[in-house]
This record gives sequence, structure tokens and C-alpha cells, in this order.
Amino acid sequence: MKMTAAVMYEQGLPTPYAESGPFRIEEVDLEGPGEGEVLVEVRGAGLCHSDLSQVAGIRKRTLPVVGGHEGAGIVREVGKGVTQVKEGDHVVMTVVAGCGCCRPCIESRPVLCNGITASRAQGLLANGMRRISRNGEPIYHYSGVSSFAQYAITLPGSLIKVDPAVPLDVAAMFGCAVVTGAGSVFNAAQVRPGQNVAVFGLGGVGLNAVMAARISGASEIIGIDINESKFSLARELGCTHTLSATSADLVTQVKDLTNGGVDFAFEVSGSKAAMQSAVALTRKGGQVVCVGLGAFGDMYQYDHASLVADEKVFRGSFMGSCVPERDLPRYLKFFQDGKMPVDKLKSGTMCFDQLNHNLDLLDRGEVVRQVLLPHG
Ligand SMILES: NC(=O)c1ccc[n+]([C@@H]2O[C@H](COP(=O)([O-])OP(=O)(O)OC[C@H]3O[C@@H](n4cnc5c(N)ncnc54)[C@H](O)[C@@H]3O)[C@@H](O)[C@H]2O)c1
Ligand SMILES: [Zn+2]
Ligand SMILES: [Zn+2]
Repeated sequence: MKMTAAVMYEQGLPTPYAESGPFRIEEVDLEGPGEGEVLVEVRGAGLCHSDLSQVAGIRKRTLPVVGGHEGAGIVREVGKGVTQVKEGDHVVMTVVAGCGCCRPCIESRPVLCNGITASRAQGLLANGMRRISRNGEPIYHYSGVSSFAQYAITLPGSLIKVDPAVPLDVAAMFGCAVVTGAGSVFNAAQVRPGQNVAVFGLGGVGLNAVMAARISGASEIIGIDINESKFSLARELGCTHTLSATSADLVTQVKDLTNGGVDFAFEVSGSKAAMQSAVALTRKGGQVVCVGLGAFGDMYQYDHASLVADEKVFRGSFMGSCVPERDLPRYLKFFQDGKMPVDKLKSGTMCFDQLNHNLDLLDRGEVVRQVLLPHG
């Protein structure tokens, strides 16, 4: 079938993206669904900071690629042998779809699945197939999702059924922002009632960590950002305090508020400076949960003796350390019960022709989550 999609041919183009145009809006061909595959009509796709990193070329991709790794839509056709979803189901699309048999999958850590990591790097679906092309030339999949398109061929493992009462432009944000931010609190840190947390970076992912910390019963929830325009929403969603990352006495302020430092510092900005402060304001024996993603190979500095003597723990968390079929229904229920008002993260919706311009808005920190509506 023919469809419109946002295709990236080159990484590392300069800002402003409205001028350099990293995404070309083109008509492409989509094949399938083949055996074990699902055709989804994409009804919403969120713009994540990781898309910006992909555009900037911080993490290399197989090109050309149809962008987008968070989305939601409606199943339009299922391939032979698919029993998990059926035509008409509303679904959230997520990049985590473990094979179910490798060691990480058996240990309930599908985000570390050996097979998925390899196919993601090659721009293929997890079954090794490629279903997008243009004039006979190959176009690759982004993390098995490629949601910046009117339709997507995906595998059932990366689809989670959602109640049709949940608007699909809101459901889209569950695929990455929600699962990553909330999961860093529920799965990686396992915050308990009365503990104190700090969240660096109050964007789409960080604000989900804030909402999850509130649900977990955290006592102090300290939101930290370089951009103070993020503070009012952060307070509405659960921050008990908001502090500027640039303030000279940030570490002292947090230690004063928490009697010596937080139990958990979540680094969700991808900034080295934030990482350094996060380590400093974590209490002895506390944990730094690293969610923000810089370039592969980037080296960070920390005071090793203090790490040892203070028994601090560094913990990475990818895609909220999630098990999608276990976690997403829980988070969707939190949304429907009003405990996790994810809709408030939506800064606006856009059509394809605004995508490059809206990358600039995210790059300048002026928005939280912008959602592409591929059908207008
Ligand atoms: N671990 C994962 O699985 C995973 C998944 C999705 C996104 N990410 C990463 O998480 C990070 C956040 O993503 P997002 O979509 O929420 O981004 P975003 O652009 O919406 O938000 C980032 C926020 O960090 C703030 N910030 C920048 N520098 C800062 C600093 N020094 N101190 C404090 N705050 C600072 C910005 O002002 C902004 O509010 C990115 O690095 C992204 O690549 C990781
Ligand atoms: Zn993302
Ligand atoms: Zn696996």
C-alpha cells in the first residue's frame, strides 16, 4: 500500500530544523502484514527527546529510516498466525518486544533482549524483515515501530491493547514517555512511601517519573530543571518543590530539604552537569537512577572514593525496565483513574508539515510532548 511517512535520509543536519528539514514527508510503499505481523493505522505519535538525538546524529541509525518510536493506533489487518490482537483493536505501540527465550527475557527483562537489540541496530523488525520502501529502494524501521507514518507494520509483542475510551493521541505517549518515566520509579528504583526523590529534567519522561513518585507515596518530590517554565506543571503533577538546576547552592538546598540528601535521584535530562549534581545530592546509601541518554561512548566523571565510602548505587534504566504486557495496562488504569493525568503532558498536536519545525520547539525546551496526527 502507499502511505505518507516522515523519512530521514541524513543525520546531523544543523538547527534550525525548520530550515535544514531532517524529515522529508514522502509517499512510501508498505508491504504486509506477513506471517506473524500486524498492520496498524497510526492515530498518534509522540515526539521524544530521543528523536532529537537521532536527528542530531548522537546515536547512529540505519538510513533512510521512517522515524518515531512512540505511538498508538488501530489494528487494521493481522498476518497469518497472529492471535494476540485482532482487526479493530486499539493499541499502544512500544519498542520493547522481547523474544521470550533469551536469558534477559527469561529473567523478565525484555528491554535487554538480545534479539531485539540486534534487529533495532539493523533497522529491521524483530523477525528480521523490512517492509518499507520507496521506488524499490529500501527504507528502514525505527526501533520496530516507525510511528511517524500513516501505517506501521509491527509485531504483536510490541502492541498492547488499550480501552477505546482512551484517546489515541494520549495513548501514544504511553509507548515511551510514560513507560520510561513511570517504570524508572516503579521497576528500577521501587520507591517506597516516605522516601525522597529528585527528578532532573521535567520533560515528557521526567514528569512521568514525578507522577509515579507521587503514586508511590514519596514524601519530598523535588523537580529540577534549567528551564523554570516547566515548574508549574511539575508542581501540578506532584512536585513538592521545584529548583533551578543552575542555582549555585542546588545541592545544599536539596540536602536541607531532605535531611542529608534524597533516597533516589532520577537523571532524566541527558546532561552531564545534571548527572554530577544528581550524584552529589543523593544521600549516603542512596541511588542514582540514570534515564537520560547521551551519545554511546560518552564518558562521565564522578568522585570514586565518595561512591565507595558513601555506598551510593548507580542504576541505569532503559524503557522503564518494563515488561510491557504487565506494566502498560497498570499505567493506563492509573490514567483512567485520574492518578496519572498523562493528557496534561500534551503540548499540542501537529500534522506532518509541522514536524521539522516542532523539533526546534522541543530542542529549545519550549514544549513537553507534541503528538503527530498522521491522518490530520
Ligand atoms: N532510558 C530510556 O529508555 C529513555 C527513553 C526515552 C527518553 N530517554 C532520554 O531521556 C531524556 C529526556 O527525554 P524527554 O523526551 O523527556 O526530553 P525533554 O526534552 O522533553 O525534557 C528534557 C528536560 O531536561 C531539561 N534539562 C536540560 N538540561 C538540564 C540540566 N542540566 N539539568 C536539569 N534539567 C535539564 C530540559 O529543560 C527539559 O525540560 C533524553 O535524554 C532522552 O533521550 C531515555
Ligand atoms: Zn522515547
Ligand atoms: Zn529475548
